[in-house]
Amino acid sequence: PPSNNFKQDANAALSTEVPLDSDLGRLTTGSGGPVQNNQASMTVGDTGPILLQDINLIDKLAHFGRERIPDRVVHAKGAGAHGYFEVTKDISHLTCAKFLGKVGKRTPMFARFSVVSVERGSPDTVRNPRGFALKFYTEEGNYDMVGNNTPIFFIRDPILFPDFVHTQKPDPRTNMANPDMQWDFLSHVPESMHELMLLFSERGLPDGYRHMHGYSSHTYKFINDEGVAHYFKWHFRTNQGIKNLSVEKAAELQVSDPDYSTRDLFESIERGEYPSWTAYIQVMTEEEALNYKYDVFDVTKVISQKDFPLQEVGRFVLNRNPENYFAEVEQAAFSPANMVPGIAPSPDRILQGRLIIYQDTQSHRMGPNYQQLPINRPLVPVLNQQRDGRMCFTNNGGRLPNYQPNSFGGPSEDPRVREVDMQSAVKGYAGRHTIKVTEADFEQPRKMFSIMSKSEQQYLIDNFAGALSLAQPVFQRKIVPHLKRIDSDYGSRIEAILKQKNADY
Ligand code: HEM
Repeated sequence: PPSNNFKQDANAALSTEVPLDSDLGRLTTGSGGPVQNNQASMTVGDTGPILLQDINLIDKLAHFGRERIPDRVVHAKGAGAHGYFEVTKDISHLTCAKFLGKVGKRTPMFARFSVVSVERGSPDTVRNPRGFALKFYTEEGNYDMVGNNTPIFFIRDPILFPDFVHTQKPDPRTNMANPDMQWDFLSHVPESMHELMLLFSERGLPDGYRHMHGYSSHTYKFINDEGVAHYFKWHFRTNQGIKNLSVEKAAELQVSDPDYSTRDLFESIERGEYPSWTAYIQVMTEEEALNYKYDVFDVTKVISQKDFPLQEVGRFVLNRNPENYFAEVEQAAFSPANMVPGIAPSPDRILQGRLIIYQDTQSHRMGPNYQQLPINRPLVPVLNQQRDGRMCFTNNGGRLPNYQPNSFGGPSEDPRVREVDMQSAVKGYAGRHTIKVTEADFEQPRKMFSIMSKSEQQYLIDNFAGALSLAQPVFQRKIVPHLKRIDSDYGSRIEAILKQKNADY
């Protein structure tokens, strides 16, 4: 049974099983047999062919040939670290989530930061959003906060996600990035202009993973002990301060230090400089959320901090590097569906889509028992009727009944756990309801542009125009009207640069 010291349990569960500093014992094959010689294959004489009975060679090559698992289809390049979350302010009136229940309470956690659309071997310092995924090993199971370093997103219906990602990945014919695909898609999705403005601002090139904020982006739901619900968003503000790379420095690092952000995180933790973030929430009553001037379930929109100020909740500190990248980072499986009592989804469509895709893709990436892997398994016992599947390495439920209801007992349901209640948000006919583009989609980027300094505006305009100029003029001409609708100065200045660069604009 788990003890009350969750941090210690987590450390024990995740620590390496190989004693690195003592007698390491004999070199073995995968099945544990001793290896006589691991440096030379077994041959007939000095120059003869290799024998089929060289079991060690065959074992070694066969395992090597199976080393790769599928990369994450997005967020493939990333870095992770262990740490803890500590509650600094009491929010037990908002949520019954036990890990948030008491000031001073600590929960072990694991974080993974990533670059969104690039491949696993790509440089860290490209202009791209960054993933910001946190796994909290709580006494009520794992809670995953799977966010980004931007408070908004490009699209607001999950049915467009595969199309969007296809345009960010290599062209199916040439296997090269294709600006035409990228800008063609975006021109049809004007709600993406808000996130694009952030992406082409200085925040689009964070200086490593330690110097960026993180956001849930979505609105989620808190439920307290009385069953009262509030909607909220997470904000994690870096205590290292925001730092961004210049365009020139980012380009230089792509060549000189492609793993720059990974190295920065790893080396700072090795030096004992533990990065930390302060956790805040924006909270609304159900009524406030449903009556807000913007749709709080539309992830292309922010909620003004003037209307709903940030409230501190706690902080997290990353203080331990993984012992093994593949075991702890590559095999880490975060999912927005991993919630604990007291935290529930909202009707945000993108979030709803995300609730089903992560477990599905992780079963494909690692097999159906990936939640048994040390980095993913919760600190509490997992007791249910799920059984078997490839690579089950627990006792598989032992002799307990693998069905329910039954006459023999086994793990019991807990009717006190509050299920989601959405009565106030759910109404209307079932069907494919398009979210129409309205003036509201242009107001928030207009506001963002207006509060930028002159030099920030110039940076944005130069970088946006530079990227857009790589597409054919036909696509440039489709994007510019959206930019002008945000702000005529913004759109016209980008258009002027495009005309300069392309005679046939
Ligand atoms: C990773 C799908 C939107 C944040 C992934 C993965 C998939 C996926 C399939 C790979 C998971 C794995 O192999 O472990 C989707 C879909 C989306 C969506 C279908 C929209 C409908 C978002 C949004 C955010 C986000 C809006 C942030 C607010 C992340 C992060 C990871 C990830 C941080 C990497 C997690 C890690 O470090 O392992 N997503 N995603 N995604 N996604 Fe999404």
